[in-house]
Amino acid sequence: SVSSAFDFASNLFPLSSTAQGYTALGAPSNPALDPTNALNGASLEKNKSLTYLNGLSLVVGLIIGSGIFSSPSQVNRNAGSPGASLLIWVVAGMLAWTGAASYAELGGAIPLNGGAQVYLSKIFGEWAGFLFTWCAVCVLKPGSAAIIAIIFGEYLVRACIGADAAEAATWLNKGVALVGLISVTLLNCVSTKLGTRSADVFMFMKFVALIGVTVTGIVVAVTGFSYKGHASDDWKKQSWFEGTNTDVSNWAVALYAGLWAFDGWDNVNYVTAEFKNPTRDLPRVIHTSLPLVITSYILANLSYFLVLPLSVIESSNTVAVAFGSQVFGPIGSLILALFVSGSCFGALNATTFTSGRLVYAAGKEGYLPALFGNIGLGKSHRAIRLHTLNQTGASKIPRKIIDWFADPDAGFFFTPIAAMALNAILTAIYILIGSFDTLVTFYGVAGYSFYFLAVLGLIILRVKEPMLERPYKTWITTPIIFCCVSLFLLSRAVFAEPVQTLLVLGFMAIGLGVWFGWVGRRRTKERERFRHVGEEEEKVGWRFWKRWRV
Ligand code: ARG
Repeated sequence: SVSSAFDFASNLFPLSSTAQGYTALGAPSNPALDPTNALNGASLEKNKSLTYLNGLSLVVGLIIGSGIFSSPSQVNRNAGSPGASLLIWVVAGMLAWTGAASYAELGGAIPLNGGAQVYLSKIFGEWAGFLFTWCAVCVLKPGSAAIIAIIFGEYLVRACIGADAAEAATWLNKGVALVGLISVTLLNCVSTKLGTRSADVFMFMKFVALIGVTVTGIVVAVTGFSYKGHASDDWKKQSWFEGTNTDVSNWAVALYAGLWAFDGWDNVNYVTAEFKNPTRDLPRVIHTSLPLVITSYILANLSYFLVLPLSVIESSNTVAVAFGSQVFGPIGSLILALFVSGSCFGALNATTFTSGRLVYAAGKEGYLPALFGNIGLGKSHRAIRLHTLNQTGASKIPRKIIDWFADPDAGFFFTPIAAMALNAILTAIYILIGSFDTLVTFYGVAGYSFYFLAVLGLIILRVKEPMLERPYKTWITTPIIFCCVSLFLLSRAVFAEPVQTLLVLGFMAIGLGVWFGWVGRRRTKERERFRHVGEEEEKVGWRFWKRWRV
């Protein structure tokens, strides 16, 4: 009944694959003639190729990025004591897990690509889906990419010119961050395969770095060995909860920093429809990846405490480098800096890939100028000819090379180039004006508003559509806990970080204005017109869509 559940839901929304860039209006009569076909959902959904392991690497590859190597200072500073900050890490991990479990239920009930955008559209109406897309394109995607790029820059500069010089060279750090951003964007523009293949390499690096930190920390704690003569023994002297901060707003800020490190758990939900067996694998992916990440983060944090003096943990954005230099001296800090910048580069790569798709889909959907829904440099007859020659063995250019750069149906550079350029420009702006600490809270407020809404939507859906088939059902306590904690977080942010909160609210207000004043109206008009000219099948689609919408 797994596949029948899937069919049931795809019949419910035959044309609502909004996130893949198809609307009832925009769908060409013969999809095979659409040059962008290989990248849009219509064909991706038919081509269900993702497995459990793919899902796992999608989630883990994005979650482990910059956070675990740089957030600890912000968590510690705001929590006040090692015990309290470990607690914050546990709470943040659990919160991510409850959120991800709720998203797994949503993904089973509405098995379409696009994550929050589809869920919000179905449950609250299209304006909510638009608002998410708007904020994701303007704030969430470029904001998160900027944070990762900044950490990438800081670590790489540190590895090259040493910690003290790097501390002073803010603009050098930012410059390197920009170079990283540009390389990742180019990589993803040139070829989709190039992007995804390099993701696998960096994924391996992350695990090496995290396991290395943990093992080293334990060894140092047990033997007392360390390059600097002796390991820090702050952890022996200080009681675990001494100095705990009593201001609730500080906890919220600490929690945001922890949540940043766990963020990315919704990544599989963007590609649900491409799973071979989404109803079985989505929950499985969630329930293995999150415990794995939570455990490794707690262990890494323990290692930091066992090795480093508290003052160092609290003051450095690059805790992992301090860790390396404490234990192994200059070589240690060099190696760790390289590993961490590699990990960030990998996460930057992963998030650029998703952003490209998201902006592209928004362009196809009419949420953004159509330009952003374009693929590549256009159809190239030369590419097709090369392919034909290759097939017949008449070309000397290796088949593999052509496969990487050109698609026989679409041309060279078969990627959403305009979309990625927009994303890169916005990201560059955030890199130039923001810093790690400010951006993390900014991102947290915006991100958790939508996680909250989507999970609240799950509860609403349970009440309003009790009969809807849900191949995977969480305990109802899961979404309730998630909603309560994120509501607390959001409310405290108003006091703790009023400027960032106002900025986020401003973005949302503009988004709503754009929808109700312009995009939404245009879409209503188009829908009216379409009703008379559209194909029978498509009309049925819209009827279903409307009736089902709660
Ligand atoms: N957890 C990741 C890190 O520590 C950040 C994930 C950002 N999220 C996103 N959807 N891009 O770097």
